Amino acid sequence: MPLVDTFGRKITYLRISVTDRCNLRCQYCMPPEGVSSRTHDDILRYEEIERLVRAAAGLGIKKVRLTGGEPLVRKGIVDLTAMLGRIPGITELTMTTNATLLARYAQNLAQAGLQRINISLDTLQAEKYAHITRGGRLEDALAGIAAAEAAGLTPLKINTVVMRGLNEDEIADMAGLTLTHPWHVRFIELMPLNNEAQTFDACNMRSHEVRAAIEAALGPLTPLEMARNGSGPADLYRLEGAQGTVGFISPVSEHFCATCNRLRLTADGRLRLCLLSDQEVDLKPLLRGGADIAEIQEALRQAIDAKPSGHRLAEHILPQGRTMSQIGG
Ligand code: GTP
Ligand code: 5AD
Ligand code: SF4
Repeated sequence: MPLVDTFGRKITYLRISVTDRCNLRCQYCMPPEGVSSRTHDDILRYEEIERLVRAAAGLGIKKVRLTGGEPLVRKGIVDLTAMLGRIPGITELTMTTNATLLARYAQNLAQAGLQRINISLDTLQAEKYAHITRGGRLEDALAGIAAAEAAGLTPLKINTVVMRGLNEDEIADMAGLTLTHPWHVRFIELMPLNNEAQTFDACNMRSHEVRAAIEAALGPLTPLEMARNGSGPADLYRLEGAQGTVGFISPVSEHFCATCNRLRLTADGRLRLCLLSDQEVDLKPLLRGGADIAEIQEALRQAIDAKPSGHRLAEHILPQGRTMSQIGG
């Protein structure tokens, strides 16, 4: 029996944050000092994650995405990938990463069963990269992207969070990547989390502005048929003659909550029902207590009854509990 929430949405996608730690400190994601890391004991063990995914697969979850913080900083991530890759029913196994450590892991991840990868990249200028990520090296991320392509972790998706006055001047450069590479470059509206409302008000840019900037510089964007690939969050377009696509993820200006098909698992074992709502259900005691598949499935069923219909950013109701890095986007 599939997982269907009280609004009739079929839940088929699970995003798993494997750690809240990150080797970068992106301005929109974490405070400069980082966030207090959970202790080793707070974090789900791989065996616990695997049991949960087996249970979820039995309820119709088909797609799993590994996130962080930065998933590649957790030891043994290739082993976890292999464990999840063997679970019957999981037909799509993917990851979202900043790619700075990916050159080291891409080949092994692909061998372990990872199918493709999404990469966060907000700028093509080394100094700005260091500024936005508070110390990261652009060349590491670019090496990671090259390694992902060489390993066949494709089609590659690039996630660019657009910030007024910060990378606004590079919108056309980022979109222009799709002319020469078969990449899906997706421009994401900045989301306000954890009381970052001030930064948000100063920096937020709506997708229609980003689209206008691209068209002014590079010509018309043609909408693609499969605009929103089922319940994916991006609206897709193509520049004339381009190899890749340009996407817009607009959680602020446009609700895609009505087709939301996802759940999130935090590194400390809580099921988060919506990215932008603090409602969570703690599954760790159950998993650590050795619950069997049927018991976990019952808990999952009960939990999704509390999935909210959508976010309430328009009413200025923001999640307060966690930073983006603690949820995994
Ligand atoms: P694909 O399946 O490859 O399309 O990936 P994805 O877009 O589901 O995942 P990714 O980790 O690349 O996320 C891209 C952006 O979309 C990030 O900024 C996420 O925070 C945002 N996003 C993903 N899912 C949701 C969601 O359910 N709600 C909101 N508001 N934003 C989301
Ligand atoms: N708003 C929008 N997107 C964000 N991401 C991280 N923080 C935010 C935010 N505040 C994106 C990153 C990453 C994805 C998982 O979430 O770019 O690619
Ligand atoms: Fe790290 Fe990704 Fe958050 Fe940046 S967006 S701080 S890379 S988890």
